[in-house]
Amino acid sequence: MKEWTLEERYRVLESPEDIRDLHERIKKSVYRQKYHVQPVTGLSSDPNGFTKYKDTWHLFYQWCPWGAVHGLKYWYHVTSKDLVRWENAGVGLKPDRDYDNKGCHSGSAISTDEALYFFYTGNHRDENWVRTPYTCAAYLGEDGSPVKLPEPLFGPRDDYSEHQRDPKVIYVPEKRMYYIFIGAQTLDKKGCVQVYRSGELLSGWTFAGQLNVPGYEDFGGMWECPCIGRIGDKDVLLFSPQYTKLPGRSESTNHNVYIIGRMDYDTLTFIPDGEYQHLDFGFDFYAAQLASNVDDPDREIIIGWIGLPDNHYPTEPEEWEGSMSLPRELRIRDGILYQTPLPEMRTLRDGILYTDVPEYDEKTDACADGTISENASDALELPAFGEMELFFDGKDAAFSLFAREDGSGGLTFSYDAEERICTIDRSGMDKRFNEKVGEVLTMPLRTPLKKLRIFIDRSSVELFANDGEETFTTHLYPTERERWFRTAGEIGTTIWQLKASVEDNFVV
Ligand code: FRU
Repeated sequence: MKEWTLEERYRVLESPEDIRDLHERIKKSVYRQKYHVQPVTGLSSDPNGFTKYKDTWHLFYQWCPWGAVHGLKYWYHVTSKDLVRWENAGVGLKPDRDYDNKGCHSGSAISTDEALYFFYTGNHRDENWVRTPYTCAAYLGEDGSPVKLPEPLFGPRDDYSEHQRDPKVIYVPEKRMYYIFIGAQTLDKKGCVQVYRSGELLSGWTFAGQLNVPGYEDFGGMWECPCIGRIGDKDVLLFSPQYTKLPGRSESTNHNVYIIGRMDYDTLTFIPDGEYQHLDFGFDFYAAQLASNVDDPDREIIIGWIGLPDNHYPTEPEEWEGSMSLPRELRIRDGILYQTPLPEMRTLRDGILYTDVPEYDEKTDACADGTISENASDALELPAFGEMELFFDGKDAAFSLFAREDGSGGLTFSYDAEERICTIDRSGMDKRFNEKVGEVLTMPLRTPLKKLRIFIDRSSVELFANDGEETFTTHLYPTERERWFRTAGEIGTTIWQLKASVEDNFVV
């Protein structure tokens, strides 16, 4: 693994020419994604500034141009009309002020009829490398690039540690106020959320207090990327707690959870309806952000980073890593979030490669329970990027994705019907990574396993179980011989080729 000096990690990007060759090299990688947003060079991590403005979706990602390393962070900008086809739009926010001299860290966006505003953390460090995180703002200028305010909106509070960042801005109509939620750490190292409010977007911000979340006073050492949204008459609080292990999550100390409840802005209390839930049970899902301006009272849209802080991925030697997840639609059913791919994803389907589901109805995405034809195959060649839909009869089942031709290896999935638990194991792959964090994880289901939708891209796999009841996201780097889908038991299968929807072009 390459050792990076501080100078190399924090080098300022002076000109696109500094990374053009790097991009040309990276582009040749067999692991470049075909329909997921990925870094133009270097590393992408958290999604930022996800919002709709004047018929265009804007999304940014935390970007370190130089390689698969966390260093000087920029916001890289991508746009889309349908949340499926994405275009590279160039560098968004650059760390070019004293207040953000060591990075434009994570944040969010909000749009009004007149303008699109960004709120982010200016990561300032002094000559002794002492950090001061500022909450900063910018707006989208005429030429499509952000214009920063001359000064930050506010600095950190000294009754918290240096970890105060990732502003999520929202408008609360009942209060006629804007609110900013900030991920923070108390002086005794407990994760929490600070709340600021103002009647105006670009001025007048005051500290309203620390968010009370009864039962969560000691839940991880830092809550990164907090987010709040409303679905129907419920509020949903999301955040990424760190420095703690959670049951069933192996050795990982980075998580992404949500709580459904009610937000009381008078007392700054989020009253949970029940326990926290994992947003995703996979190995690689973090820092998810709700889109703003979704304009539908019954759903929210979310996107996450396929990756985790502190982890390392096999594309590191190629000088890039990371990817955005698919955007997901969130609805509440039976007290939990149901997460499904956006309906527009179907427009990427480019022909059925295989099906043994005779009664499949594409409009409703349904088939008679466990229907599979007589001549179903137990070894199918997988596309390098495509979609699968699997139907189960609710009994024990097992399959492997990206197995070798003789059936060995691959990402194995097994379902224990009695316990209603899916076990996913990536230790059989040729390219193993983050072994110490864990290579086997479980995804408990609430209802018997009937259906899985699986999205395969060239270096990721996302599973949606039972129409979004639970999800599982992982990076995966199959080698040339790992191409087969093997099943044991009755599994109805349809496999689609998908069209590419991101262009790997150099826009900086
Ligand atoms: C989460 C995070 C944020 C921070 C950003 C820096 O992955 O640590 O808290 O703003 O990444 O890239």
